[in-house]
This record gives sequence, C-alpha cells and structure tokens, in this order.
Amino acid sequence: MKVIPRRLVAFEKGELAASWRVLRGEEEAGLVAEFEQRFTEYVSVPYAMAVSSVRDGFSCLLDVLEFAPGDEIIMAAYNYHVMPLIVKKRGLVPVFADIDPDTLNIDPGQIERLITDKTRAVIVTHLFGRSARATEIQKICRERGLILLEDAAHACGAECDGRKVGGFGDFGMFSFGTGKCLVTLGGGVIVSRNTEVFTRLRERLDNQDHPGERWHSTSYYLKCLLQIALTNRTLFAVLVYPWILLADLIRLDIIERLTGDKYTSADVSAKSQVQPFAEFQALLGLQQLKRLDAMNDKRIARAQLLDRYLEDVKEIKRIPVVGNREHIAQSYTVICDDKNALRRHLLRKGIDTKESSMRNCAQFLGADGPFPGMAGIDDRIVELPCSQHLSENEMLYQANAVRDFFGYPMTSGPGGGR
Ligand SMILES: Cc1ncc(COP(=O)(O)O)c(C=O)c1O
Repeated sequence: MKVIPRRLVAFEKGELAASWRVLRGEEEAGLVAEFEQRFTEYVSVPYAMAVSSVRDGFSCLLDVLEFAPGDEIIMAAYNYHVMPLIVKKRGLVPVFADIDPDTLNIDPGQIERLITDKTRAVIVTHLFGRSARATEIQKICRERGLILLEDAAHACGAECDGRKVGGFGDFGMFSFGTGKCLVTLGGGVIVSRNTEVFTRLRERLDNQDHPGERWHSTSYYLKCLLQIALTNRTLFAVLVYPWILLADLIRLDIIERLTGDKYTSADVSAKSQVQPFAEFQALLGLQQLKRLDAMNDKRIARAQLLDRYLEDVKEIKRIPVVGNREHIAQSYTVICDDKNALRRHLLRKGIDTKESSMRNCAQFLGADGPFPGMAGIDDRIVELPCSQHLSENEMLYQANAVRDFFGYPMTSGPGGGR
C-alpha cells in the first residue's frame, strides 16, 4: 500500500537553510523589493506589493479603494468564505453570482444581470487553479466602468487566452500558503495597474507599525517547518496516517479539526493590519518564481493522468485539466454523491484526501438565489492529492482506488501501479 498525504510541502535542497539564514539576518536584505519586481515581470503588470496574506492585503485594498457604505461588489457564490466576510465587514454588499458548473468559476453571463447603480467592483476568483473567463469579464468591467479584482490565490501562473491571470484586473491577489502553487510559508502579493490606488496602498502599508515583527516571522517559520516535516511521505506514514485512520473510526476528520479554516466574521477586523512580508519569504519566492512554470507544468501532467484514468467513471464529475495552463491544477477536484464514503475508502487505501474549503457563500451569508449552476456541487467536492512531487505511479494508484470504489476495473499505466 502507498501512503499519500493530502499535501506535500517540499523545497529544493538548500532553500530552507538559505531562508533560515535570511531570517536570522545573516544575509543581505532587499529581497522583498526584488521579489516584487520579478513578480511584476512574471504577471506583466506595473506594480506588485508583497503582503502577509491575501485576506490582509484585500482588507487594506478595500480601505484604500474608499467605496461608500452600501456599495455592491459582485463575486462568485461558490467561493472562499473569508472574502465576502471582509466585504461585509467594511459595510459593502457582496452580491453573489452563479457559477459555471463546468469550471466552478463565476459565470460572466450572470455578472451583467447583477449590475446595478450601486455596483462598484467585480471579484473574479480562479478557483482550484482553473482560470475564469477573464477576458470577457475584463470587457464587461471596462464597458460598465467597474473595478476588476482578481482572486488568483489558487492560480499563480494560470493563463487565460495566453495571458497570466491576475494581470487582467485593476488588482490581482496571489496567496503563497503551504497548499498553494508557489509557497513562501504564508504571505501573498497584490499586483496592480492602477497607479493612484496602488500608491495609496503602498503608503498605507509602509506606514504601519509592526510590533513583534521578528517574533511573528520566527514563530510562523517554525510552524511551517512542522508542516513540512509532517507532510514528508515517511513521517506522514509513520506519525500522522495511523492517527487519521484511527480518528476516522469515530468519524472525526482530525486534520480538518486541527488545521481547517475556522475563520469567522469575528476574526475579520474592521481595521486592516498587515504584517510585512519577510525577507526570508521573499528569498523562497524568488527561487520558486524561476521554476514556477516548470512546477505548474509537472503538476498539470500529473492531473492529466488522473483525468485520463478516471475518464470513464460516470459517477464522478471532474473539471478537466485543459492544456495551455488554463488549469494549473492547484487542486484536483472530483464531484460525487457520497463524498464521505469515497474519502473513507481512499483513506483505507492510504490516500488522505481533503474536503474542499470552498463553500456556498450565498447560503452562508443568507443571500437569495437561485443558483442552479451550483446545484449538487458545493457540498460534494473532494480534493485528491495532486502535487508535482507525486510520482506517476502514485497518480495511477489513486485513480485505481477511486475506480475500485465505484466498481470499475483497475487500469494500468506506467509501471503497472497495482
Ligand atoms: C480562493 C481564496 N481566496 C483567498 C484566500 C485567502 O488567502 P490567504 O490565506 O493568503 O489570506 C484563500 C485562502 O486559501 C483562498 O482559497
């Protein structure tokens, strides 16, 4: 049996040691500015600012955008719940648009329908690494005089019509937590084309006090080291997997309990406070940016194996990993009826899957529907492990475990995989 963790947090040899030296102040500074510069080149935008997280950067961005209370922001109903919570906390109104069930992203046709006199902005989220129809949405926003914000937390390096996502909007947001495409052990970047608002954002963040900054970075770094250790294949198999299996016997998703996103409206502050992006994070970002396209391509190839091996399984719906980096497979999602039974079956076979942290935000915030595009999707999504560090055989092993659950014969691939 193979044991496959839901997440593999791994760096190239020497990278972590180098970042530790930077954290200790033993190596040159100025890396954050260099990372921001390289990031603007990567996305082809004029400005980029590194922030402690997307949620913090987004809160601050909404403050400097100076919308009036009651102004409306259109966003996808199937979403990361923290984003509409932040919108609401600032006295703005999140207006939910239905999704396209074939991409799980906002349906551009729905946006036009929802625009009112109070609409000021549209947020387009490129969910799970699949780019939304950014070109069309950019056109709508330009014609209607709306600000376009792109939530590219899952999609660093994804493309739409040959252009990097995040660069279509007035603002684009990228997140670098441990489950993301580019990992700087937390943190993110806000990119922009809007000189005036970006200057206000930069001034605002540069003038904040950061008490305990050093301690914040160090404790965060150590927490992430623990995650790296525990997602290492061997340590995971010996130290973590038996506990997950045991906990599952009493129907407890222990990892979700311990690490799941418990962010509620009480956690969303009315005043944005952003810790700076640390030099050691910038070093990790700079190193990965150089090989980001290659890492994404490798993960795409892994995901395409799952696509191929699961193609005939009628009981699941997949979001196929189409070429040209339109879907960079930050997560590989399957949508099926009895997701809990599937997860349990896979766990017994050593595969630690993840319940999606995205949710029906319209329902969560009591907004009116209907949302037919979301019907039968929002609570049926399972994320299969899909990291560029997994082998072809591990992908085949996963596919066969899924096939087995639905009563399909095993398939063979490179190396047999059985
Ligand atoms: C779609 C989406 N948007 C925004 C965020 C927030 O990113 P951060 O954790 O950097 O605040 C997340 C976090 O996972 C996310 O999944």
